[in-house]
Amino acid sequence: MRLENKVAIVTGGSRGIGRGIAESLAREGARVVVNYTRSELEAESAARAFGGLAVRADVSDPRHVTALFETAEHEFGGIDILVNNAGVAVFKPLAETTDEDFEFVFGVNTRGAFYCLREAARRLRNGGRIVNMSTGATVHGTPGGSIYCGSKAALQLFTRCLARELGDRQITVNTVSPGFTDTDMLRQFPHLVDIAPSMSPLGRVGQVEDVARVVTWLCTPDADWMTGQNIQAGGGASMA
Ligand SMILES: NC(=O)c1ccc[n+]([C@@H]2O[C@H](COP(=O)([O-])OP(=O)(O)OC[C@H]3O[C@@H](n4cnc5c(N)ncnc54)[C@H](OP(=O)(O)O)[C@@H]3O)[C@@H](O)[C@H]2O)c1
Repeated sequence: MRLENKVAIVTGGSRGIGRGIAESLAREGARVVVNYTRSELEAESAARAFGGLAVRADVSDPRHVTALFETAEHEFGGIDILVNNAGVAVFKPLAETTDEDFEFVFGVNTRGAFYCLREAARRLRNGGRIVNMSTGATVHGTPGGSIYCGSKAALQLFTRCLARELGDRQITVNTVSPGFTDTDMLRQFPHLVDIAPSMSPLGRVGQVEDVARVVTWLCTPDADWMTGQNIQAGGGASMA
């Protein structure tokens, strides 16, 4: 129970990697706000399972994000951990990518993450933790991945700059970059499902728990001395 008395917000905590992170933080004793935008039943059942709170908020809307943080503070008395996990993906050749695709992906992945970071920078208690979820694909690039990888690359620089801004409050800021992980997001792209196991030297696709363990570790006192880093959590699929 290394996170007893800590309060965490996990954006996109209703499904996939975010849900695994929410469960893992709760197992360490944190009180967890499970954010979602559409999957109300999944979010409510996740929160019920470990005594957390499900809060609907579209992270691409700054008013929703402010309300999310206000609710967490009101219900639990403060916030210690933000896991900026909510994400969406569109994979198509850049020449076929529409303005709407760009707005959708950057709206959630980049602007949404930024709105959450701004609230976290204003509100997190001293000694807090921020983890931004990027992707290992920013290392090697991938055909059709321009807007997705571009939207996620920004998070790595948000991490480095904010780590320098918040260090005097002993708040750490890190990026975790998963490789292919078995979730609804990956299953949208059958061609990626096919190649996923061969991308890792360990010869298998990542599981939600593989990534959740890394994020949880970063939130514990064991990772006090880790800040401004980009941790590759893809079974060696990306080595940087
Ligand atoms: N899976 C992979 O192979 C992989 C690899 C590298 C990085 N990642 C990154 O890891 C993170 C989690 O991915 P995943 O595979 O677990 O995705 P997923 O299974 O598709 O789940 C996405 C989560 O994000 C939430 N979400 C989407 N749009 C949102 C919005 N506007 N506001 C609030 N929440 C929103 C969803 O909520 P609802 O349930 O309400 O829709 C859901 O909880 C993402 O940032 C993704 O880019 C994934």
